[in-house]
Amino acid sequence: MNAIRIELSTNKKQKPEVSELGFGKYYTDHMVILDYDASIGWHDARVVPYQPITLDPAAKVFHYGQTVFEGLKAYLTADGPIRLFRPRKNFERLNRSNERLSIPHLDEELALEALKLLILTDREWIPSAEGTSLYIRPFIIATEAALGVNPSTQYKFMIIMSPVGSYYAEGIHPVKIFVESEYVRAVKGGVGNAKTAGNYAAGLKAQENATKQGSSQVLWLDGVHRKYIEEVGSMNVFFNINGTIVTPALNGSILDGITRDSIIQLLKHWNIPVEERALSIDEIVEAHGNGSLVEAFGTGTAAVISPIGELLWLGHKLSINNGETGELSAKLYDNLTGIQKGTVEDPFGWIL
Ligand code: COI
Repeated sequence: MNAIRIELSTNKKQKPEVSELGFGKYYTDHMVILDYDASIGWHDARVVPYQPITLDPAAKVFHYGQTVFEGLKAYLTADGPIRLFRPRKNFERLNRSNERLSIPHLDEELALEALKLLILTDREWIPSAEGTSLYIRPFIIATEAALGVNPSTQYKFMIIMSPVGSYYAEGIHPVKIFVESEYVRAVKGGVGNAKTAGNYAAGLKAQENATKQGSSQVLWLDGVHRKYIEEVGSMNVFFNINGTIVTPALNGSILDGITRDSIIQLLKHWNIPVEERALSIDEIVEAHGNGSLVEAFGTGTAAVISPIGELLWLGHKLSINNGETGELSAKLYDNLTGIQKGTVEDPFGWIL
């Protein structure tokens, strides 16, 4: 195992009040950095004071977007140990994103060791109040100063951490969603199933339009037929159709969400029928029309569960569950956050 060196901060920051946390506004005292150079590989793993980084303006990440990231959370209860939720899944996915973006493979166990050391170093930053957690953002950027369009020979892997409150102040509340028929997020063969910056930049315009229409986010349809549902905003999406929970199958343009996988496993554990398959917007409109669309929700690390209260499709408003949080959405939220926090037993071995 490579040694990870630590340089401690001599200038600790003041921690925010719990009521001020929001999402991704404050950063802890330290960060992880590893460097990569084609001649030596990944090296010099270190925990250092949180600080700005200096890059050459020609660094490839600025021009060609060669970068990947992850998002995961650590939790603390008043009297319990630190709880990390499924971190190995994130580092496995980071390497799948690396593979797609031609970024060199990273030793997942080394990344996890570095993360654990960072969390221990900044442990007093983990909030314990209801609805709070420590959001962890590992990421890699291409740093070689060269404008040729080819994979960088130099990279930085970093981990930064941010104490966060719940994504929505009320815990979970249903949002209005605009079904996007002009822009698409990704296509099969592209980078939609990699966690890379370009996917999020590509979504901003549609999100801006959705906000103008009074919706919070967009429901993405596939890029070929403009018919099959893919994701909602930056989350995976589930529909309860007459008691069967349906989510789009991973088809190459959908992100393999770790919350998505956890929800599927929970549903199976409860013997609730769950289907991963192609799901068209027409099927959803029909289910709404005949009363079999019971509820709908997005899933992701940041918000965990985000119920959908209304779909806006071609000028028609489709209200779901009278715009209220559905029973299953609430049950899934309570159980998944309970497992994460340690108030509900973890039958899956998800907590490290
Ligand atoms: C998540 O739901 O965790 C996301 O992927 C959103 C994140 C980029 C803030």
